[in-house]
Amino acid sequence: MSKTVSGFSKFSKEEKIDWIAKSFFDDSEKAKEVLKQYWNTNKYLQDLHDDFIENTVSNFYLPYAIAPNFKINGKDYAVPMVIEESSVVAAASLVAKFWSTRGGFKAAVISTTKIGQVHFMYQGDYEALQRYFESKKQHLFEATSEITKNMRKRGGGILNIELRDKTSELENYYQLHVTFETVDSMGANFINTCLEAIANEFKKDDIQVVMSILSNYVPECLVRAEVSCNVNNLYAEDAEKYTQKFVQAVQIANAEPHRAVTHNKGIMNGVDAVVLATGNDFRAVEAGVHAYASKSGVYKSLTNATIENGVFKFWIEIPLALGTVGGLTSLHPLSKFSLGLLGNPSAKELMQVIAVAGLAQNFAALRALTTTGIQHGHMKMHLTNIIKQLGASEEEKQFLINYFENKTVTHNAVVEAYNKLVQDK
Ligand code: MEV
Repeated sequence: MSKTVSGFSKFSKEEKIDWIAKSFFDDSEKAKEVLKQYWNTNKYLQDLHDDFIENTVSNFYLPYAIAPNFKINGKDYAVPMVIEESSVVAAASLVAKFWSTRGGFKAAVISTTKIGQVHFMYQGDYEALQRYFESKKQHLFEATSEITKNMRKRGGGILNIELRDKTSELENYYQLHVTFETVDSMGANFINTCLEAIANEFKKDDIQVVMSILSNYVPECLVRAEVSCNVNNLYAEDAEKYTQKFVQAVQIANAEPHRAVTHNKGIMNGVDAVVLATGNDFRAVEAGVHAYASKSGVYKSLTNATIENGVFKFWIEIPLALGTVGGLTSLHPLSKFSLGLLGNPSAKELMQVIAVAGLAQNFAALRALTTTGIQHGHMKMHLTNIIKQLGASEEEKQFLINYFENKTVTHNAVVEAYNKLVQDK
């Protein structure tokens, strides 16, 4: 049977599922049921989710959790997190509590500029192009004045339009490099609409516009978060030794890209979870953050740590292009809820919360890695997942948790212990 189809998007949801089941699952009722069991019985909600994207046939749930006790700039937050990986929320909660009794997190937005570019080819004289650009610059702003009207009322808009000669990177390649302030919206649609209007106004016979698009590299939309305390206050025992190890772990991530990637992945466990929970674009954030980690030409740690005069200081600096209005943030009831939980923050405040979530996650990972090792905590959390997969009763679950209290958790070991328990009954 052919596995290609035409007109799939025109099929009803039932028809789509029937076609999938027939083509890929031997028309299995079970396959259909897997998809349908996740349909929401609330028709309004289901229609809402159906319309987010095209060809929707089901919903894909991820856990939604809360990490309480974050103190940021003296204010208390319960932070919403959407993530499938066990240990992340537990680590965030523990670290939040830990730092809440040590002055909390300090965070500050350094800059909020976003970038878009009109990329074009031009073969003529550069000085003539410059003169053309200067004669047009005011018109380029005017061409967007209707689009930017509301944004300007909110304190945003186009900050600058610059002509850039990129011919040393690519023959005949130039760009209009446009900077934006988009206040509380992420601004992707706004930026792209402005760029297309600018491109339209700028074009002439010898200018070949290739494309107009925002950049997800936003090194001037930057936030910093930090914690600090006396070294003696950081560990119950051997504080100096373990703090040194912690700082060395950060130095290693700064010196070695293989380690830096994993180190930063741990940071993104916290960042992405809050980005997702608040309905923001995690792909945009990921792309921008990793580009920023490579800004020196070598991929490095996003965090830094020092010990000076007996004081431990640990901080992160990351670019975050976020919105708290518009897009999914107001459409998805859970995103709206998340923002409500955070006190309906401005985009700047959300940048601070998310940078803190990333820093907290990195703190938890490095602390575990440089003391007990990561598997200890990880596998304990993993244990409950394995037990659940095995379909153990509450009584069996308690037995297995106690049994593995002082033993190494592996998938095999848990299965064996469970099978033995069932046999011995
Ligand atoms: C796992 O999701 C994240 C860690 O590997 C991060 C790290 O190694 O720093 C634990």
